[in-house]
Amino acid sequence: MAVIRSVIRGCGAYLPQRVVSNSELAKTLDTSDDWIRERTGIRQRHIAAQGELTSDLGAAAAKQAMVRAGISPSAIDLVVCATSTPDRTFPATATAIQAKLGLKPGGAAFDVQAVCSGFVYGMTIADSMLKGGDFKQALVIGAETFSRILDWEDRATSVLFGDGAGAVVLEAQMQKGTSADRGVLLTRLHADGRYGDDLHVDGGPSSTQTVGHLRMNGREVFRHAVTNISDVIQETLVDTGLTVDEIDWFVPHQANRRILEGTAKKIGIPIDKIVMTVDKHANTSAASIPLALNAALEDGRIKEGNLVLMEAMGGGFTWGSVLARW
Ligand SMILES: CC(C)(COP(=O)(O)OP(=O)(O)OC[C@H]1O[C@@H](n2cnc3c(N)ncnc32)[C@H](O)[C@@H]1OP(=O)(O)O)[C@@H](O)C(=O)NCCC(=O)NCCS
Repeated sequence: MAVIRSVIRGCGAYLPQRVVSNSELAKTLDTSDDWIRERTGIRQRHIAAQGELTSDLGAAAAKQAMVRAGISPSAIDLVVCATSTPDRTFPATATAIQAKLGLKPGGAAFDVQAVCSGFVYGMTIADSMLKGGDFKQALVIGAETFSRILDWEDRATSVLFGDGAGAVVLEAQMQKGTSADRGVLLTRLHADGRYGDDLHVDGGPSSTQTVGHLRMNGREVFRHAVTNISDVIQETLVDTGLTVDEIDWFVPHQANRRILEGTAKKIGIPIDKIVMTVDKHANTSAASIPLALNAALEDGRIKEGNLVLMEAMGGGFTWGSVLARW
């Protein structure tokens, strides 16, 4: 039976110009390039310029995605921006991007707050809205300026994150309704708010009236990340009847190389099937999956027809997956 699918028409990415290496951080923090690389795989991060906003990063990535999709800005009737570092408490960063890019006035635009799982949540919501039939062309953007919420004196967290943005254009298309269809095939979302304190920002409009800084219980987050990401991959495989071998590319949230290696070992994923870009931009939260997607599309790894499994885990805790055929 024919069904509407959200087909991924184009992808784009943007990283701020300024690159900060581990060694540069080691000049002001009690850390070292060796420590950061061994524990996380991170070599460098990009930091937004003064005055460069999350919406600027998101707009740059979205613009590239639309050009590659060959879709005009005026055709975009839905903008979902996943971010935990919005320009302002409100209005949504998605509306700022809508205005900056001249996207269809009167289309829907809103932000999604699921921290590092934001892109997976955003894709799931946009997919549902396209399938509902009221929207035709969506931008799903992950954009972050985490440098603005880091405690730069805390070596245990400040070395792990960076700024960046990535975006995809989704288009509602009629497909046959089989697993050979192009587009989003299955999504799975989860959250467990009991772990809110393990990865949080110690500020907010309602609590402190300040922006606050990121705080993390690194060991607990690590442990849950491997478990939750492995679980949601297994769940996706069981629910689709697919095997690891049938997935062409795993594109996970880029938090830490060791988390990805731990997950790969647990499930038996060959490491060369996992797209890893964390070395180049550190953890960019909601932006990291589309940044990794973009890298694997630019270097020709992901090709039309490939099955791609995206998965993430973040503050909340939140976690989830999106399975799509390119
Ligand atoms: C943060 C993380 C890399 C720390 O690695 P770890 O092996 O757990 O290290 P620990 O926290 O036990 O700290 C070990 C030592 O390194 C020190 N250390 C922490 N950060 C450091 C840094 N940047 N440079 C040098 N030493 C550092 C600690 O102070 C501690 O020293 P001590 O033994 O003298 O007390 C790891 O827990 C992790 O990756 N967690 C997940 C983080 C993440 O990805 N979060 C986002 C998910 S979306």
